[in-house]
Amino acid sequence: MPAKVIVFIAMLYPLARLVLLGVTGANGGLGANPIEFITRSTGLWTLVYLCITLAITPVRRMTGITALARFRRMIGLYAFFFAVLHFTTYIWFDKWFDVAEMLKDIGKRPFITVGFAAFMLLIPLAVTSPRAMARKLGRRWQTLHRTIYLIASLAILHFWWMKAGKHDFELPKIYGAIVIALLGWRVIAWLKAKSAQRRA
Ligand code: HEM
Repeated sequence: MPAKVIVFIAMLYPLARLVLLGVTGANGGLGANPIEFITRSTGLWTLVYLCITLAITPVRRMTGITALARFRRMIGLYAFFFAVLHFTTYIWFDKWFDVAEMLKDIGKRPFITVGFAAFMLLIPLAVTSPRAMARKLGRRWQTLHRTIYLIASLAILHFWWMKAGKHDFELPKIYGAIVIALLGWRVIAWLKAKSAQRRA
C-alpha cells in the first residue's frame, strides 16, 4: 500500500476512536459528558496535527528524508478537518446553531475569541492548499501559509486560557514548548539563510 494511503488511514484514528467509544461504550465510552469529551478530543487532535504539520520541514531538513514533504499538505488538511469537527461540536451541541449566542460567547470569553480567530485563519490555508493554488499565488502563497505559526500560537493561548480556570497548565506548557521550539527553529533557519545571502 502506498505510504500516503497508510498515513491517511492512520490519521483517521482519533475519529474512529470517538465513533467506537460512542457506539460500544467501551472503557466508559464518551464519559458522563459526551459533548465535552468530543470537544476536548477534537480540539487536542487539531493541535497535534498542527504541530506535526509544523514539524515536517525541520525534521526533513535535519534527517534529509525529503519524502516527508509529501505528507505536509495532507496532515495540514487533517488539522483543518478536526478543527471543523471541533467547531461543529461547539456550534451544534453547545449553541444549537444560535449564531447570536455564539457571537456573544466569542465577545465574552477570551479563550473562545482566540480559538475562533485561529479557526478563521485556518480557512484560507485550507482553501489555498491545492497545488494549483500554490502555483497561481506564487510567493504570496508562502507568505499566506506562514500564518500557520500565528494559528498555532493562538491555539496555545486558547488551550492555556481554557485551562487557567483550574490552574492545570501541564499540557498547555508541553504543547507551548513544542510550538516555541518549532518557531525558534524557523527563526534560526531564516537568520542563517540571511547571513549566508549577505556573505555571498
Ligand atoms: C485552530 C483552532 C482550534 C484549536 C487548535 C483548538 C484547540 C483546543 C484544545 C487543545 C482544547 C482543550 C482540549 C483538552 O482539554 O484536552 C480546546 C477546547 C475547547 N475549544 Fe478549541 N480549538 C480551536 C478552535 C476553537 C473554536 C473555533 C471554538 C469555538 C468557537 C473552540 C471552542 C472550544 C471549547 C468550547 C473547548 C472546551 C472547553 C471545555 O471543555 O471547558 N475551539 N480547543
